[in-house]
Amino acid sequence: MKRVAILISGSGSNMVALAGSMTGDHPARPVLVVSSVPGAGGLAKAEAMGLATATVDHRRFGADRAGFEAALGAALAPHAPDILCLAGFMRILTPAFTAHWAGRMLNIHPSLLPKYPGLHTHARALAAGDAEAGCTVHEVTADLDAGPVLGQARVPIMAGDTPDSLASRVLEAEHRLYPAVLRRFAAGDRTPLHLP
Ligand code: GRF
Repeated sequence: MKRVAILISGSGSNMVALAGSMTGDHPARPVLVVSSVPGAGGLAKAEAMGLATATVDHRRFGADRAGFEAALGAALAPHAPDILCLAGFMRILTPAFTAHWAGRMLNIHPSLLPKYPGLHTHARALAAGDAEAGCTVHEVTADLDAGPVLGQARVPIMAGDTPDSLASRVLEAEHRLYPAVLRRFAAGDRTPLHLP
């Protein structure tokens, strides 16, 4: 049974989808939810699911990324995770940290990578006049939002869409894609999954 730690910074809806999926014959179980932001909405949701939680307040470290990551590592160690899932975790990790967790760390990004790495993905897709948008689960490497793709889900862009209306349609797809990819990944299957 694989042990999964979920890293968040915000409302935690992907965390709820992931943790809720790891039951029955799933090859993994959630062991910790850790937030980089004190009081993030996802922490209360994790506690309500009976999960262990921790907070490593990134503001305490300012520009000291290595210091933040050492504290993050100390929070993770007692739970001995095999896999890290970044779920709305808004910190850029150093090459040292990504190398340490190479092949064992996933992230969800709200665009069809390699299109629109970084922020404001929905506004950029609308500004470009794209017909579709979506989300991507990828392995995390030192190159931001550029690691091997493990899964994608596409959604149509509708007339009159705003970044918010598109974001909520993409978020629904995220909640289907991330659990499906994690189940395969935890079973050792890295072949890319494409959801309709
Ligand atoms: C999601 O859209 C995710 O793709 C992005 O941040 C958002 C987090 O949402 N990185 P939540 O905290 O999981 O609800």
